[in-house]
Amino acid sequence: MANNDTINTSDSPRHSTDHGTKSSTDGQMTVQDIQDAYARYARWIDRLGWLNRLVTGRHRRRQFSHAEGRVLDVACGTGENFRYLPESTEIVGIDVSEPLLERARSELEALERDGTVTRMDAQDLEFEDDSFDTVISSLSTCTFPDPDAALREMARVCRPDGRVLLLEHGRSDNGLIARYLDWRADAHYEKSGCRVTQEPLSVVRRAGLSVAEAETAQLGRITRIACDPVVDEPAE
Ligand SMILES: C[S@@+](CC[C@H](N)C(=O)[O-])C[C@H]1O[C@@H](n2cnc3c(N)ncnc32)[C@H](O)[C@@H]1O
Repeated sequence: MANNDTINTSDSPRHSTDHGTKSSTDGQMTVQDIQDAYARYARWIDRLGWLNRLVTGRHRRRQFSHAEGRVLDVACGTGENFRYLPESTEIVGIDVSEPLLERARSELEALERDGTVTRMDAQDLEFEDDSFDTVISSLSTCTFPDPDAALREMARVCRPDGRVLLLEHGRSDNGLIARYLDWRADAHYEKSGCRVTQEPLSVVRRAGLSVAEAETAQLGRITRIACDPVVDEPAE
């Protein structure tokens, strides 16, 4: 894609400072708070699905259309990713929001895809180790109360030769947009539980996952990250 920048996954200066985790330590929302927020917004999320697809659809396709085998979509929401997964895959979706999961079930039906969609906390997945060939998640690490725990769970349930594929939003490379987001960050977090300026690559690295590929688009607002399901234990 013309407007994508491949990030040097070792030491990109853009990702050397995390501008977005401040809110998570100042009065972090709980899983219950997140559930309540999404119950309030479920109708709007559903109605604005077309806009979501317009902005993120091609990035979802690019990131998830090579998923293989048994696929876990962590924090699947309304099932927005399902349409981009190959027909050959078996879809398992989890989320904490029952109103969104209802829509995800309808999406599976509309797509005539086999799969299951279950209420579950991403930070404490009820699956055995190595249960999935591919684990995917989109626009989610900004919302998890403990994104490190959720990312480590994703790695745990993925087979060692599988992939964890993420599509996340970040603060932006554009100064004007970044400053606007900085200004909005606290209010946005209080309303929705979303850390809008969180830098996803920093979070993934902090959680200890091994980043194989990363790429940004839309002036740094969108980041695609592919990880090997290996977690580095923090040094003693
Ligand atoms: C911005 S939405 C993204 C939904 C979907 N992945 C997409 O790309 O449209 C964030 C999702 O994370 C879910 N979520 C937040 N915390 C969660 C948790 N601890 N466990 C499972 N899902 C969670 C919310 O319910 C919501 O569906």
